[in-house]
Amino acid sequence: MDSTHTGGVTRRNVLKAGAATAGALALPKFAQAQTQGQAGPALQAGPALQADPTLQAASELSAGAINASVSLTVNGQAHRGDVDIRTTLLDLLRENLQLSGTKKGCDHGQCGACTILLDGKRVNACLTLAVMHQGADITTVEGLGTPQAMHPLQAAFVKHDGFQCGYCTPGQICSAVGALDEIERGVPSHVSADITARPLLSADEIRERMSGNLCRCGAYSNIVDAVTEVAGGQA
Ligand code: FES
Ligand code: FES
Repeated sequence: MDSTHTGGVTRRNVLKAGAATAGALALPKFAQAQTQGQAGPALQAGPALQADPTLQAASELSAGAINASVSLTVNGQAHRGDVDIRTTLLDLLRENLQLSGTKKGCDHGQCGACTILLDGKRVNACLTLAVMHQGADITTVEGLGTPQAMHPLQAAFVKHDGFQCGYCTPGQICSAVGALDEIERGVPSHVSADITARPLLSADEIRERMSGNLCRCGAYSNIVDAVTEVAGGQA
């Protein structure tokens, strides 16, 4: 028996049907939203939509207005462009600006690999949308120093062997820059005994402040040594 032809069902027809289904599933979300927005009579004619400006805005989004213009400065260089409003700051840096020094570890705010400095403060770039930062001043690891003229923390990480694979290192270093600035500004941490006093430059303080940056290679003790040396404290 011809195994490719059974009861009118041919392998070719099955493959064609499968391909058509896969094509429909692969439609970008944006295109799907457009189709739904145009076809849904309730969305276009519903009295609640006409009365509620919030819902009208949502309707415009579903009709296709999902790009927005954003201008920001990254490592001293001004950038401007249109981005999908769902683009995270991390993806903007890595995919749109090709600044791949900032790493994507978990993409869920859990590992700290994506830490950058946003207007001087450290943030997880995977947890925030690019369009929320119009006019922001961003520093990534590429903006801290160069191989020829390293930032003191970059040099200390090299000196103290503060990494193995290096994947977490850009985030660790940006986070350390932010953490030392927080100490400088007197921001207390969870382990500060007296929140009204100037924070100590102790290893405990450094460990606590760096606890949002995970290192799967376990280079923690050397990272603490590097940060403590730059902070001017005692490990
Ligand atoms: Fe952002 Fe892990 S990639 S916290
Ligand atoms: Fe490998 Fe930190 S050096 S994850």
